[in-house]
Formats: sequence, C-alpha cells, structure tokens
Amino acid sequence: MAKKTNPGSPQSGTERARPILHQHSREIQPFGKIAKLSIALDENVCAASVENLNQILADTITLRDLYKKHHWQVAGHTFYQLHLLFDKHYEEQDELVDTIAERIQLLGGVSLAMAADIAETTIIPRPPRGREEVPVQISRLLEAHEILLKEARTMAKQASEAGDDGTNDLLVSDIIRTNELQVWFVSEHLVDVPLVRADASAKTKAASAD
Ligand SMILES: [Fe+2]
Repeated sequence: MAKKTNPGSPQSGTERARPILHQHSREIQPFGKIAKLSIALDENVCAASVENLNQILADTITLRDLYKKHHWQVAGHTFYQLHLLFDKHYEEQDELVDTIAERIQLLGGVSLAMAADIAETTIIPRPPRGREEVPVQISRLLEAHEILLKEARTMAKQASEAGDDGTNDLLVSDIIRTNELQVWFVSEHLVDVPLVRADASAKTKAASAD
C-alpha cells in the first residue's frame, strides 16, 4: 500500500505516480524446468533439447568473449586485419547466442544468461587474463571451435532422432556452418608461408627429393 504523506509536503498526492521499488518474489519458473508451449513436441524432447542448447549457449558465449578478448589484446604485424577479423567473428557468435537462447525459451526452458553461470557451465578452457602471442590466441580459438563443433554434431543427431527438427536445423545450419567457416578464416593465419620472398630452399629440397 502507498505510504501516507503529510498533506502539506511536496510529496503529497503523488503516491500513485511513484515507482514501486525493491520488489521481490518467487521465480515464475525455476531453471531446469519446462513450461511447455503448444509446439507439438513432447515435454521430454523439449527438456533434452533445452539441456543440450544451454551447454552450446555457455560455450558459444565463451567463444564469443574469447574473440573480443583477442580483438582487444592482439599485437604484431597482423594487428589491423586480426583486430577486424576477431570482431567480425565476435559479432557472428553474438548473433548465435541470441538465436540459441531464444530457442531455449520457445522450447519452454530457461536459458542461462549471467557470466558466473556461464563460467560454471562452459567446457572451453579458461584463458589467462594477460596478453598472448597471435599463434597462441589463434590456437585457443581453434580448440574452442573444435569443442563446439564436436558437441554440436552429437546434439544435432540427438535432436534429429528425437524429432526436434528446429533444434537440429539450428545446430546444423547456424552453429556448425558458422563455426566451420570461422575455423577456415582463422586457421589460414597459422600456415607458415613467406610474406614477400618465395622460399627458394623449399624448391631445392623438392628437387633433391625427386
Ligand atoms: Fe572494438
């Protein structure tokens, strides 16, 4: 109930216009429970997909943030192009995050959201706080992509077998394809080819091997 104010005070008569602050109540849906929507899927199927998607969500948020860390901390001759590439991949992963989280909700589940919960759930190894060399940054990214791709392929099969075509499609068309493409763009930076002068010794070595 609104607090009574002194009729002569400046607050008097404003009770109905005041924001009601510091409100608390029980959650309307606990984490891990399904509030099923009418999408013609069995509740157990929804629950299994939600559990898998929350794992993919935690790992995608972690990979997304790893890209931003490297976008900020990258150093060296390829600074500018990697600075831009890492941010592009960050944006693409960020879009995936929203797509995954919203599918969890439409399946009747509760999506993970906060940093502490993501840190507890992800299976991607934690990087140090400090800066690392480009080859180390890229190796970390590729390892994270591979973890994601492996689990996404397994989960896509599970969703397909359970009849959850929407989740299967999200995993295949969005997660797997985006991650595979990013792996290609990032991997090529670890191919050791000369920048200006062709490697003449390689030609000599090839000739002597014939
Ligand atoms: Fe930036």
